[in-house]
Amino acid sequence: MRMICVVDSRWGVGREEALLFYIPADMRFFKETTTGNVVVMGSNTLRSFPRQQPLKDRVNIVLSETEIDTPGVICCTSMDDLMEEISRYDPDSVFLIGGASMYDQLMDCCTDALITRVDAVGDADREIQSLDDREGWELVEVSEPMEDNGFRFVFTRYVNHNVRENPTPLDTLIAEAEESGVQAAVGVIDVDGNAEAVEVTAEEAAVDPEKEAAEIADLLAAVQAMGQAAGADAIEVSSGGEDDDETEEDSTW
Ligand SMILES: NC(=O)c1ccc[n+]([C@@H]2O[C@H](COP(=O)([O-])OP(=O)(O)OC[C@H]3O[C@@H](n4cnc5c(N)ncnc54)[C@H](OP(=O)(O)O)[C@@H]3O)[C@@H](O)[C@H]2O)c1
Repeated sequence: MRMICVVDSRWGVGREEALLFYIPADMRFFKETTTGNVVVMGSNTLRSFPRQQPLKDRVNIVLSETEIDTPGVICCTSMDDLMEEISRYDPDSVFLIGGASMYDQLMDCCTDALITRVDAVGDADREIQSLDDREGWELVEVSEPMEDNGFRFVFTRYVNHNVRENPTPLDTLIAEAEESGVQAAVGVIDVDGNAEAVEVTAEEAAVDPEKEAAEIADLLAAVQAMGQAAGADAIEVSSGGEDDDETEEDSTW
């Protein structure tokens, strides 16, 4: 699988369920690259398309916990189903096209990434981790600087020297935590004997004070399921900030 994405100078990818910039030259590049191939996306990205319709002349695979019966959409309701569906195609023909949660979970399963880097700050509410800082990734190509619709940008390609077959429970956990808007989550998961730790802070998580107990409970259940699947010895999750004790929950086993 390959990744394709346009980012601003802070690796922001979207704002209010839309792209940050309108750059026709980049949209042409996206269309030319993906047409005739397979595109893999999260349900929010499908909803961000015109009339919420799949992309023409491409196989559209969408991940959603809820079945989507839009014609032309192959819906997968779990990450396992998605990985199985993807395995039916030539890996070079499959493009991970977003959005942020999908990049977070699946970027390390991609062999390379076509990243359009825009020299601007787009005031994003969805960001991804910089591939410049991510272990295993190397910048191998940078185009001449270009300009379109008032934006300066370069086309780049990164290669992943450490391709994973499946997303780790940790990647999924981080995406769940960010989506649930928890204030903070600290988890230690023992995967294949290697302890990994993650802290999702209030700053990183899209904190929404309206989202409370129900979503936190969902997160907790997801963390527990992932921990069990990964054979974790112990997981601790806490939610709620210093001034928000009422929503605090803990779970350890
Ligand atoms: N810059 C770019 O190149 C680019 C490309 C694409 C999108 N974007 C932008 O990115 C933003 C959208 O990103 P996003 O993170 O909010 O949404 P997203 O990744 O497109 O979709 C998230 C949804 O995918 C489903 N999902 C994700 N992980 C799952 C899992 N492990 N199991 C089951 N379902 C799962 C869930 O759908 P359900 O809620 O239906 O269960 C979840 O709500 C928008 O602003 C969009 O414009 C930018």
